[in-house]
Amino acid sequence: MHGSPKLVQPACLGFLLSLFHLDSSSSWGTSRSRFPPDSVLHGRATCESFVRNKLHNYPTGDARTTTFVRVATTTCQATQALDKARWRVFVVRWGNQDDYEVVRKVGRGKYSDVFEGVNVLKDEKCVIKILKPVKRKKIKREIKILQSLCGGTNVIQLKDICRDPQSKVPSLIFEYINNRDFKALFPTFTSGDVRYYIYEVLKALEYAHSNGVMHRDVKPQNIVVDYEKKKLRLIDWGLAEFYFPHKEYNVRVASRYFKGPELLVDLQDYDYSLDMWSLGCMFAGMIFRKEPFFHGHDNQDQLVKIARVLGTDDLQDYLTKYGLQLDQNFRAMVGSHPKRSWESFIREENQHLATPDALDLLSRMLVYDHQKRITARQAMAHHFFATVRETEAKARELGRAGNGTTETGSGSDAMSIVS
Ligand SMILES: Nc1ncnc2c1ncn2[C@@H]1O[C@H](COP(=O)(O)OP(=O)(O)OP(=O)(O)O)[C@@H](O)[C@H]1O
Ligand SMILES: [Mg+2]
Repeated sequence: MHGSPKLVQPACLGFLLSLFHLDSSSSWGTSRSRFPPDSVLHGRATCESFVRNKLHNYPTGDARTTTFVRVATTTCQATQALDKARWRVFVVRWGNQDDYEVVRKVGRGKYSDVFEGVNVLKDEKCVIKILKPVKRKKIKREIKILQSLCGGTNVIQLKDICRDPQSKVPSLIFEYINNRDFKALFPTFTSGDVRYYIYEVLKALEYAHSNGVMHRDVKPQNIVVDYEKKKLRLIDWGLAEFYFPHKEYNVRVASRYFKGPELLVDLQDYDYSLDMWSLGCMFAGMIFRKEPFFHGHDNQDQLVKIARVLGTDDLQDYLTKYGLQLDQNFRAMVGSHPKRSWESFIREENQHLATPDALDLLSRMLVYDHQKRITARQAMAHHFFATVRETEAKARELGRAGNGTTETGSGSDAMSIVS
């Protein structure tokens, strides 16, 4: 206990900082600002700002630092307990299942069967997602995230939550989108369509990311499009998670073809940029008319497919930067490959889509190092979307803009101009 404060305190502070996911290279205050706004979540945000502010007042070597560390540690432990308790006490307000009737099946996923339905009280179409048995915590997380993003641009709107009185099987009720299967729809896209719909996905991601949520399962199947109304929604928030700097997350998220390198090399402190990789894969599939763009047969082969395009030199730099190593077999599988130019994927059938500005944007999305990937907000400002932005600005000027979510009017106008 009599050791030099200089030796003891940095260790204490290190411990404290690690508890609060803080370090000297924290991304707070940087232009990438990955930390969710104060309004977000679990009380940990409040606790983190508390420590961050207070640390300035307690210089290293000062006796008050020790007191601060003790107090803050207790606060931290309390916050963590609160964190857990909040999940436990998060109460789902169940609606009345009798208000809804199933009409026909529209889709199925790993975790659900999805039906077109009708709200019989309002005589209004809806979508009923009947969940398969999964952990209660996963169901709560999906509901909590959908509620916290409710009203966000192009985020599918959760309208109600019901539970079968006998079986207790939960159902999520969503707004209805007259979706056309992407396998039929995407190959018909013009260059204007690609610009318009990728921009619409970016709006949803920008909203989620700036509200502290990573989607973690961006793929064509989780994007529904009503082509006639030019309406797009990002659905399936079942794998989404709240982001905290330096928190170690499960790498078993996203679907194989859309998994970022970080997931494939087991890098757990990933962040919102994962969604930008997945969107990049989708974008590449659209502009090169090659779906999926990276067609791995398993997770290891997925990295092999990526390395054959992005090259193994950059992969090695990425691994070195994060202190990672692939095991010998995996290294042998990956082999050694030069970086391919994006232009080398241009064919007669895709040259109208794979324009120089599209390739420039793609090269900023599909980057090994997640910290160097373009953010959703930066991507929206890319010159690839210049015509979409101009059209939106004109629509706004004419007083024809939608009401926060992208609606028919502006979308149709956008298409007529940018197509
Ligand atoms: N609001 C909606 N409007 C139209 N179609 C929808 C809607 N919600 C879901 N679907 C359809 O149902 C399918 C499955 O829905 P969803 O992705 O939410 O389920 P999941 O079980 O979580 O899927 P996954 O296997 O990707 O985890 C979607 O791919 C889509 O075709
Ligand atoms: Mg899905």
